[in-house]
Amino acid sequence: METTEKYHFEVVRWFSVAAVIYLVVGTLVGVYVASELAWPFLNFDIPYLTFGRLRPLHTNAVIFAFGGCVLMATAYYVVQRTCAVKLWSNGLAWFTFWGWNLIIVGAVITLPLGLTQGKEYAELEWPIDIAIALVWVAYTVNFVMTIANRKSSHIYVANWFFLGMMIMITYLHVVNSLAIPVGMFKSYSIFSGVQDAMIQWWWGHNAVGFYLTAGFLGIMYYFVPKQANRPIFSYRLSVIHFWALMFGYVWLGAHHLQYTALPDWTGSLGAAVSLAMIIPSWGGAVNGMMTLSGAWDKLRTDYVLRFLIASLAFYAMSTFEGPVMSIKTVNALSHYTDWTIGHVHSGALGWVGMVAAGALYHLFTRLWKTEMYSPKLVNTHFWLATIGTVIYIVAMWISGIMQGLMWRDYDEFGTLTYTFAESVAAMHPYYAMRAVGGFLYMLGGVVMLYNVVMTIRQASTNPSASAEPARA
Ligand code: HEM
Ligand code: HEM
Repeated sequence: METTEKYHFEVVRWFSVAAVIYLVVGTLVGVYVASELAWPFLNFDIPYLTFGRLRPLHTNAVIFAFGGCVLMATAYYVVQRTCAVKLWSNGLAWFTFWGWNLIIVGAVITLPLGLTQGKEYAELEWPIDIAIALVWVAYTVNFVMTIANRKSSHIYVANWFFLGMMIMITYLHVVNSLAIPVGMFKSYSIFSGVQDAMIQWWWGHNAVGFYLTAGFLGIMYYFVPKQANRPIFSYRLSVIHFWALMFGYVWLGAHHLQYTALPDWTGSLGAAVSLAMIIPSWGGAVNGMMTLSGAWDKLRTDYVLRFLIASLAFYAMSTFEGPVMSIKTVNALSHYTDWTIGHVHSGALGWVGMVAAGALYHLFTRLWKTEMYSPKLVNTHFWLATIGTVIYIVAMWISGIMQGLMWRDYDEFGTLTYTFAESVAAMHPYYAMRAVGGFLYMLGGVVMLYNVVMTIRQASTNPSASAEPARA
């Protein structure tokens, strides 16, 4: 199939299927760690299953395994379609597929064993860090060279977002991972103290800003107009908000370190730029949504478009909430509480997960040249994901704000009204509620996996099959 195809799509197919499998696995681990917080006996006193070891497995599985496969599948697809050329190197693309999956296997083995650098979203030890750098650079080079070979005259804006992400993540990852190895799976960061904290959160927030935001905006800029079958609302707006995001995001790291040993002004600067980021973030959200202007009725029948547009609503919501949380007085309440976890998941489940699902459904129909096996199941997935996300974030808002208020409450003698243990006990119903919301979200992923498997089977047994008119 590969040699007769106009483009190198086989590697895109593999990345797309892997992404759906990792969605199920990553959210399954998420539901398990959420359940451990609600019902701690689930730790079973087995070190490999404890919350502390499985939590980084969850974050690595959803961000790097699921998110990474989505980004690689979509970037390889979009760059070929928009530049009207094959990938520069099919071999290099396969290297990134197997390399990335090997890295994921490395994470699955080392994290439960407790082998970690202890830096959030950068836990993996130095040999795996080197492998990540190699695969990421191969991905970037292949993408850049494909653009260089393009037959179209201009570079479509989605590619700008992908490229911005690739360049920034390369140097963020390399600098934050600089460490001195003292054994095969033990190393010490070359930074220490306040510098280490600052570098870590410079990486941490930019992992959000470039990997989970710019990359996924690249996805949005290709798949929303394609699925809606309309041109993007404003090309000019997309260029302006691209540059504003690129220049703005790198300054935000300090908002994770308010009221710490960092100089006070760095936190204020981080907060000021964070507030300014509402404008470019909403620029992207509005641009995506307005693409549907005059054709909103499509949302009634096109379930894939529903995913894409709902994701933009969650994107707008989390990029309003984030800047508010960066204000020092608000952060004094929200930091260390579940409010942060709620914010994370409104972005992760609502924005990243849903825009990815929309793009993947679109890809499956194009890559296998068939309709989805069941458009109704796409709709079922949409509702499970939406209801699951809402339950998750509402539970975390209540629990987070309650935690913050309980911790700062004093009685008339100036002593704390509540012990810490009392605040933990008060969280129980909300932790149970979050586990239920997460379970629904994961169930949506299982429904998607089933639908995808049946679609691929349908395409291979009857290549011309078309279940229902082009809706999903
Ligand atoms: C079924 C869905 C999910 C459930 C039940 C779930 C559950 C959890 C739990 C319990 C935590 C630890 C919270 C804590 O330490 O108090 C967590 C952390 C995290 N999850 Fe999820 N998760 C889900 C899906 C996702 C997805 C799809 C993503 C990303 C695309 C994601 C990204 C993260 C991140 C970045 C953190 C770390 C947050 C922080 O340190 O502030 N999660 N998740
Ligand atoms: C303009 C956009 C955004 C701003 C200004 C922003 C701001 C913030 C702030 C102030 C925090 C809390 C820091 C703390 O108290 O420790 C935070 C945490 C976080 N945000 Fe955002 N946010 C934005 C968008 C997003 C989006 C779209 C996502 C997900 C796709 C996201 C993911 C996260 C994660 C994962 C954390 C937790 C980091 C950690 O402590 O482990 N943010 N954000």
